[in-house]
Amino acid sequence: MNISAEIWNSPVSYLAARRPEQPVHFFHPETLRARAALFARSFPGLASYAVKANPDPAVIDNLLAAGISAFDVASPNEIRLIRSRAPDAALHYNNPARSKQENAFAYGAGVRSFSVDSLAALEKLRALGSPAQIEVSVRFKLPVAGAVYDFGTKFGAEPDKAAAILAQAAQAGFRPSITFHPGTQCEDPDAWAQYIAEAGRIARTAGVTLHRLNVGGGFPAQQAGQAPDLRRFFNIIARSTAQAFPENTPALVCEPGRAMVAEAFAHAVCVRDINDEGALFLNDGIYGGLSEFPVLPIARRHAVLAPDGTPRRGPERKVTVFGPTCDSLDVLPGEHLLPETVQEGDYILIHSMGAYVNGVTTAFNGYGNLERITVLSL
Ligand SMILES: Cc1ncc(COP(=O)(O)O)c(C=O)c1O
Repeated sequence: MNISAEIWNSPVSYLAARRPEQPVHFFHPETLRARAALFARSFPGLASYAVKANPDPAVIDNLLAAGISAFDVASPNEIRLIRSRAPDAALHYNNPARSKQENAFAYGAGVRSFSVDSLAALEKLRALGSPAQIEVSVRFKLPVAGAVYDFGTKFGAEPDKAAAILAQAAQAGFRPSITFHPGTQCEDPDAWAQYIAEAGRIARTAGVTLHRLNVGGGFPAQQAGQAPDLRRFFNIIARSTAQAFPENTPALVCEPGRAMVAEAFAHAVCVRDINDEGALFLNDGIYGGLSEFPVLPIARRHAVLAPDGTPRRGPERKVTVFGPTCDSLDVLPGEHLLPETVQEGDYILIHSMGAYVNGVTTAFNGYGNLERITVLSL
């Protein structure tokens, strides 16, 4: 990604003046810092940023400036990134599938908190160092609805197994914790209530007093509807934790990715071509910044702009939208309502696009040259 030293008033002012041919990621640092301050001050525990959502160094630096001091990392490169900006930050390595080499690298870089969802993963941690200094967070899963997509198919032990792993972790002298992830863009706070109640049962079954309870990421960002009231989520989490653990209430951790960073960025794509059937070909697609469109079927706030920045209005038509590559999979699912007047050279400005865009953009077919521009308003 190119880093711009320039600051523009708004995405529209930049698009109209520069008419960029590559996709542009517009960054509004104030929104990011406000969101970080909300998590840092109002979450009833420690807020640890999930780096995978947006590893842009400018994001990390703004989060640090806004009081975020802990990070959820998922790979040695994410550890290197955070250590290069914040040598003393607390790191939680909560990708439960790690090689022995990755464990050793992380430990050497000062990581003392790891998630596991199997006895094999727990076993590998025994080789690292004094267990009394190492937090082991056992990740469990439940069949709970509420998220736009469910993370339980890949990670997480069933509750009975989680209790067995937790008991063994405590017996081995590790600091025993529990973690879960309700699935991303989870708009129902009751999902957390259900998970936390189950975490209480798991700890009781294992006969273990928890060091901490990590309630995951999954918090929703604003999309086409109303802004989610994250304080309501935080209150439900605090209340549910007190109920599930009436004695020895564990300290809480959360690790938001999407909700921390999504609203701080808008993403502009350009219409490169329109075919005889009226289908649009954009300069970005599922191998780039729009990779979530097939898996997150949610209505998104967007505006269609003429090259001079004027909004296209008026009657709309249903449009098929393709990405730029030659792969026929590179199409946004379904049909999209866009103004009938949309033309080649127009921009589509999509809001709440700060998460899972720059980290997943590929160079397939020679595309993927995403530019980041800082703006004073979105
Ligand atoms: C362990 C872990 N924590 C946190 C997150 C962030 O999730 P979200 O962006 O939904 O907040 C993820 C996302 O994959 C994750 O795997």
